Amino acid sequence: MSGVTVQQATGPRVIVALDYPDAASALALADRLDPSRCRVKVGKELFTRGGPALVEQLIGKGFDLFLDLKYHDIPNTVAGACRAAADLGVWMVNVHALGGRRMMEAAREAVAHAERPPILLAVTILTSLGEGDLREIGLEDSAGDSVVRLARLAHRSGMDGVVCSPREVRLLRRNLNQAFCLVTPGIRPVGAGADDQVRVMTPGDAILSGSDYLVIGRPVTAVADPLAALDAITAEVDQALVRRHGDDAAASE
Ligand code: C5P
Repeated sequence: MSGVTVQQATGPRVIVALDYPDAASALALADRLDPSRCRVKVGKELFTRGGPALVEQLIGKGFDLFLDLKYHDIPNTVAGACRAAADLGVWMVNVHALGGRRMMEAAREAVAHAERPPILLAVTILTSLGEGDLREIGLEDSAGDSVVRLARLAHRSGMDGVVCSPREVRLLRRNLNQAFCLVTPGIRPVGAGADDQVRVMTPGDAILSGSDYLVIGRPVTAVADPLAALDAITAEVDQALVRRHGDDAAASE
């Protein structure tokens, strides 16, 4: 199966990671956020606490929702999970590229007929894995080579894009077509602490590198004024997008 043509990124580029241990806290922040200015992400912890009901509540509030459950199983099981996610009405969902081509093709096939098929992403190599960890699980290539190889496989298997480190965006843009969707966590505004992220990039630099969507958690959720933090990030992203479009236009002249 060849890669499908994805829509170019549109709308808010910031996806706020609702990494809260309970549904009430996630909903409390969501109530203060404007769905026309950001998207939201629900990961494994919050989903395990809040379940599909929470996902439906957030979507009901008008948010585009990235269900970040990184499915990795036999093709039939992953296809069923992706179909269930599409039925919930999520905007974006992801699988592990290490599940292989047949698993990714099954995921693509499963959502193809949904009323509004979610954007389907693959995770290549978890950014928490160092070279030593990769050797230990039998991956002899460098992390960069593995990321490119798996991203190409994801593209050929019908994925719309990958989740990757902002440091990998330029490399992937050189190796894959421009419409391939690149979603990057590991974003830290100037002055914000890195927390447990090792290789971080500012929102503006990530957009200038070619990132489509930025996943941002603690710089918004763990500060005194989340709305002010999000406003500052969005302003930086908007400025970078204007610059990027200017650069693209100049390059094509
Ligand atoms: O708080 P912070 O901005 O670091 O949150 C980043 C979010 O992106 C978290 O939900 C984390 O699980 C997710 N993520 C990541 N690195 C990856 C994949 C996902 O940080 N490689």
